[in-house]
Amino acid sequence: MAVLITGGTGYIGSHTIVELLGAGYDIVAMDNFSNSKPAVLDRILEITGKKIKFYQTDMLDKPGMEAMFRENRIDSCIHFAALKAVGESVEKPLLYYKNNVTGTLNLLELTVKYGVGRFVFSSSATVYGKPASVPIREDFPLSPVNPYGQTKLMIEQILTDLAASDSAMSVVILRYFNPVGAHKSGRLGEDPCGIPNNLMPYITQVAEGRLPYLPVYGNDYNTRDGTGVRDYIHIIDLARAHISALEYTQSHSGVECFNIGTGRGYSVFEIIRAYEKATGKRIPYQIAPRRPGDIDECYADPGKANRLLGWRAEYDIEDMCRDADRWQSMNPSGF
Ligand code: WQD
Repeated sequence: MAVLITGGTGYIGSHTIVELLGAGYDIVAMDNFSNSKPAVLDRILEITGKKIKFYQTDMLDKPGMEAMFRENRIDSCIHFAALKAVGESVEKPLLYYKNNVTGTLNLLELTVKYGVGRFVFSSSATVYGKPASVPIREDFPLSPVNPYGQTKLMIEQILTDLAASDSAMSVVILRYFNPVGAHKSGRLGEDPCGIPNNLMPYITQVAEGRLPYLPVYGNDYNTRDGTGVRDYIHIIDLARAHISALEYTQSHSGVECFNIGTGRGYSVFEIIRAYEKATGKRIPYQIAPRRPGDIDECYADPGKANRLLGWRAEYDIEDMCRDADRWQSMNPSGF
C-alpha cells in the first residue's frame, strides 16, 4: 500500500518524502511544477536510493489525478499541494480559492471513491490570524486575515465535515508555524521563485551575495527588540511530524488538529545574529517599512503534538541557520 503525496516536489513535500522513504513507506507523488522543479526527484533518488511513482498532474485536472488512484494501491494521503503566497492571495483571491479549495474537493472526491481513509493535511498558523496572546493553542479563535489563510481554514472545515460523515475516516490537520532549514546533505532545500518573500531564504541569498542586504520590515512592533517574532521550525522536524501524524491515523478515527512549532519565538534581529554566529557570515540589513498584514508575535504551544503524537522538535535555531546556509552555498542558483 502506498502514501499519496500531493505537492511532492515542493519544499515541505520533498523533505517529507525523504523521511517517509527512510521509514520504509512506498510513495506515490504528484506535482504540477508551478512552484518546484523536476530536478527535486533526482535529488530524492540521490539521497534515498529509492524511486517513487511520480505523476505530473494538477489538482484541477481530476481525470489526470484519477490515474494515480487507478494505477496504484493508495491507502493514505498527505496533502501539501497549494498556492501559499500571502501577498499574492490578497491580489488574486479567486486563483487561491479555485486552486486550493476546488483542487482539494477534486482530490477528496477521489480519495472517497477509492476508499483512502487516512488523510494528513498541511495547514498553517495563518488560520489564527492575529492571536490575542502567545503561545498559541489549537483551541484559540480561528480568524485568518488573508485569502490564503481562509483557504486553509475552509479546507479544515471540509475535512471535519467529511470525517463526520464517515466514521472510518481518520484526519490529522497540522498547523505549521515557520518552516526553515534544509536536508543535512545540502542537496534539498528551499528554492523560491524570484525574490524571496520569506525571511530565511532572503537571508541565505544575502549570505550568498545574490542580494545586497536584508530589508527588516519594521522595528517598531510590540516585541522585545521591535522586530517581528516567529516560531521557526527545522524542515526535518516538520517532515518527521508528518510520519507521527500518519501513524496517529492508523490508531484513531475522526479529526485532530496539532500546532507544529518549537514553542519558542525568535525576532528578526535574533535570527540575523544566530545566522552570523552559526555561519561566520555577515548579514547586512536595513530597516524598511512594515509589511502589510504582518503581526507582532506568533509562536506555538506544541504541547498537544508532544503529548498525543509523541513528536517534539529536536533541532535548534543554529542548526536551522547552518543547514539553510549549506543548501544555498551548495546550490547558489537553487535546483
Ligand atoms: C517572518 C518575519 C517579517 C522577510 C509566512 C506566511 C505563512 C507561512 C510562513 C505558509 C516577519 C520578517 C521577512 C524579509 C523581514 N507560509 N521579514 N524581511 O510572514 O511569519 O509567515 O510564511 O503557510 O502563511 O504568512 O514568514 O518569513 O515572511 O516573515 O523582516 O525580507 O520576518 O516581517 O516578522 P511569516 P516570513
